[in-house]
Amino acid sequence: SLLLFVVVFIITADYIKNRRPVGFPPGPGGLPVVGNIFTWDQSRPHEKLMELARTHGDVYSLRFGQKWIVVLNGFEALKEGLVTKRDSMVDRPQLALQDEITGGLGVIFSNGNIWKQQRRFALSTLKYFGFGKKSLEPVILDEFRHCAQEFRGYKGKPVNPHLIINNTVSNIICCLVFGHRFEYGDERFMKLMLLFAKALEIESSIWSQLYNSFPLLMRLLPGPHQALKQIWNDVKNFIKEELNQHKKNWDPAERRDYIDCYLQEIQTNKEQEYNTFDEENLIMCVLDLFVAGSETTSNALRWAFLYMAKYPEIQEKVQAEIDRVIGQSGQPSMEDRANLPYTDAVIHEVLRMGNIVPLALPHSTNKEVQLGGYTIPTGVLIIPNLASVLFDKKEWGTPLTFNPGHFLNEEGKFAKKEAFLPFSAGKRLCLGENLARMELFLFFTSFMQHFTFSMPAGVKAGLEKTEQIFCEAWEEVNQQLPPCQSQLQLSPWLERLQS
Ligand code: HEM
Repeated sequence: SLLLFVVVFIITADYIKNRRPVGFPPGPGGLPVVGNIFTWDQSRPHEKLMELARTHGDVYSLRFGQKWIVVLNGFEALKEGLVTKRDSMVDRPQLALQDEITGGLGVIFSNGNIWKQQRRFALSTLKYFGFGKKSLEPVILDEFRHCAQEFRGYKGKPVNPHLIINNTVSNIICCLVFGHRFEYGDERFMKLMLLFAKALEIESSIWSQLYNSFPLLMRLLPGPHQALKQIWNDVKNFIKEELNQHKKNWDPAERRDYIDCYLQEIQTNKEQEYNTFDEENLIMCVLDLFVAGSETTSNALRWAFLYMAKYPEIQEKVQAEIDRVIGQSGQPSMEDRANLPYTDAVIHEVLRMGNIVPLALPHSTNKEVQLGGYTIPTGVLIIPNLASVLFDKKEWGTPLTFNPGHFLNEEGKFAKKEAFLPFSAGKRLCLGENLARMELFLFFTSFMQHFTFSMPAGVKAGLEKTEQIFCEAWEEVNQQLPPCQSQLQLSPWLERLQS
């Protein structure tokens, strides 16, 4: 009877303590203590959240343990939250797992003065290397040559492009931050990429939700979350080694890369009040650039390959446009973008349908705010469901179909769309948007110039035209091919001409 009393007491106390506050967005009922934590769909959370919006409206709430969460769905709700009310939504929530790993440093999970200073510095340095005197354009084109050579080695046989493309894209971040690239297959670098993949897998799993909801308990329980700290420490040590190399031969007069610029910034700000530039922050910022800038861009490129394989008629149109504007031997440059409206529209549609970061990163209210007619107090975690905007029926003619026409006007010219938010919006807008766009444009046009993508023989390409089924297609293709080969067949340009 004591046990029964304890259970009844916990349930009653939980009910009284965790009732939705007055004026708070509605939402589904939850279980005692854990709330709605098991509503979280691990593989496609954005779809489950879109489904809940059909019942509870575009702005609704969930409870994970003691934490209230408000989910924003659809273009109007996201615009109101991220743009109109941007000053109240600029913070990241305090999450136990992320706090332990980042120590509140860097850009992605920092707040306040640290975030302001580190983001401003990162933006201006990316501008300098991305588009200023030291443009990354030749670096990207050079990396394409290495990547193409790697693919040509397969002589048109089916190949899984995942690791190669990850290496290609990560090399751009390496050139930006370390000032050098790594050869494909470099053991040290492969280890780093595997560490990233492992860490991201654990962080997007239910384990990290549980950790952030019940940190005291989860610290004691075994599970993959226990390995995370060690994995990130290994990554930080990798960056530390590069930093030490830089310090050995650092010349303040020369700005070779991000680390050089940062070392200079540390010197400049030494005497400043509220200075946040130090080596700890440097390591965390570099790590952030890798975390945020590698898998995202690589993922988008892989979606581009898959869509080209699925829609050969679209691929041919892209190739014909590139033939006309750049030719088969000319080098693509960013200046060509204005003359390649169809190619540009295809890249935008890949980013829309590819749905690279479906739920953005969590935000948090730093003051009470009115949203969708509801009152949301300070400290509530906000999930901007970007996927719900990218597939919003009100914004796109054929939301679930790959259709470059979404970004073309009647004269075939490129047309911008306000609801195109793969990089989010407002004060936390993706810091690497311009770099990502440059990489995608230069890599994609170079690939289309030299390669044709097709599904390997025997693999069913009769996919339905929805993003979900495309996801399944990856799995299906993986099952049908031997482990080291899969997804796509790359046949060099010459073969395309012959056929
Ligand atoms: C944040 C998307 C590439 C650096 C974000 C966010 C999204 C996003 C949705 C969250 C915004 C929010 O919290 O509201 C993408 C996509 C990419 C891409 C789709 C490629 C296709 C990159 C690259 C870099 C980068 C190449 C850097 C080199 C960052 C950083 C943040 C961020 C540092 C955190 C910004 C902050 O908290 O202030 N990105 N990103 N991203 N991204 Fe990207």
